[in-house]
Amino acid sequence: MAGKYQIPRGTFDILPEDSYKWQYVTDVFKEVVRTYNYREIITPIFEKSEVFERSVGSSSDIVQKEMYRFQDKKGRKFALRPEGTAPVVRSYVQNNLGMNGGNTKLFYMGPMFRYDRPQKGRFRQFYQYGVENIGSDNPFIDAEVIAIGYSFLKKLGLKNFTLEINSIGCVNCTPDYDRSLIKYFTPYLKEMCSDCNTRINKKPKRLLDCKVRGCKKIAKNAPSMLDYLDDECRDHFAGVQDFLKKMGIPFTVNPKIVRGLDYYNKTAFEFIDNKLGAQNTLIGGGRYNGLISQFGGKDVPGTGFAGGFERLILSMEIEGLSFGKEQLPDMFLVTLGQKAFEYGNKLLLKLRDAGISVEYDPDKETMKAQMKTADRSRSRFTLILGEDELAGNKIILKEMESGEQKIIGLEKIVESLKKMCKK
Ligand code: HAM
Repeated sequence: MAGKYQIPRGTFDILPEDSYKWQYVTDVFKEVVRTYNYREIITPIFEKSEVFERSVGSSSDIVQKEMYRFQDKKGRKFALRPEGTAPVVRSYVQNNLGMNGGNTKLFYMGPMFRYDRPQKGRFRQFYQYGVENIGSDNPFIDAEVIAIGYSFLKKLGLKNFTLEINSIGCVNCTPDYDRSLIKYFTPYLKEMCSDCNTRINKKPKRLLDCKVRGCKKIAKNAPSMLDYLDDECRDHFAGVQDFLKKMGIPFTVNPKIVRGLDYYNKTAFEFIDNKLGAQNTLIGGGRYNGLISQFGGKDVPGTGFAGGFERLILSMEIEGLSFGKEQLPDMFLVTLGQKAFEYGNKLLLKLRDAGISVEYDPDKETMKAQMKTADRSRSRFTLILGEDELAGNKIILKEMESGEQKIIGLEKIVESLKKMCKK
């Protein structure tokens, strides 16, 4: 039997002792995006496979080998979402979210699924947070989207991350650049990995970010996209850098950032944390003009980013950062004797209705056993109600850390305890 009901490889349970960390980072993310006036969008965790096939791209690793595909009983083809941008754009077009003009500013959080080899910071079910800004090609918006990521990481207290940006051009500048890459890499192909050999003719830019050491060495001297940008892309990229400088956000230009999804053009960026090891990208994003029209919408531009919560939490743990307070009960109620037990039943409901969290253990009878459970619950206070206290219309309140005890009247118990909890 042992081992039969194990969790699938590449997935994990978020246990109660960790879930407060997740609540903390999601709360901070929501708080940061609120200040930029982004509103939440929630899409299904599965979509028709074609939502991802063309947009994320048929030559991408995600579509080629990482999608969890399945058919329903009627043979319709679906996929668990591997990322959030394509579903958001699908929903934007389907629900005509841009109908009032201007920018549509959306954020999302939720599980994504990719069949990849699991390792530190890489899972088969992982949780992303992300934003999408649809409707503007202004480089200010690229910088502002980057600023959201920066604000978020800073607000969590992270210090050891860097921002790397690049422009990967557009359909006008790509053909010349691709030709130059093919020319550069072709003589080295025999020394390069099989992925690079298959990608050379489909997506030569991907050879720039291959992680295999030998390929990396060869890619070092490859031609730079920045030398092939047309005037519009060059000005746009200069604009993004200018706004980032004005906003006071430090960055470096890294012409090797290409991103693994096909929908990108112009700005591409990554927030990197080198302490994380091989999977060191905290946040990845960029511009995807043309994607909205691919889904049948108007030809409006878009830009955004996403990051994985797992790497973020790992990074915070490495830096020894706080995740706020763990959820613990305010009170533990101890009752002694039948009458106190019966009164205690009503009292529990009354206190909980008033927003005070109270723990109680109906399986323990003696003072000693109940106090032991109270200790284990790590509640701040313990309420002790015996027959004598009940007869005197009173209850004992013990502060667990100091051991200090007080007598409180039962008539005004809710008001008194609320005050105590606030202190
Ligand atoms: P991505 O680079 O594929 O981009 O993923 C974004 C982030 O999600 C990564 O930087 C990483 O933090 C996290 N991530 C990706 N795969 C895994 C995994 N297997 N396990 C754990 N974490 C992972 C996108 O998904 C784009 N949709 C981002 C975007 C939004 N671009 C524009 N808008």
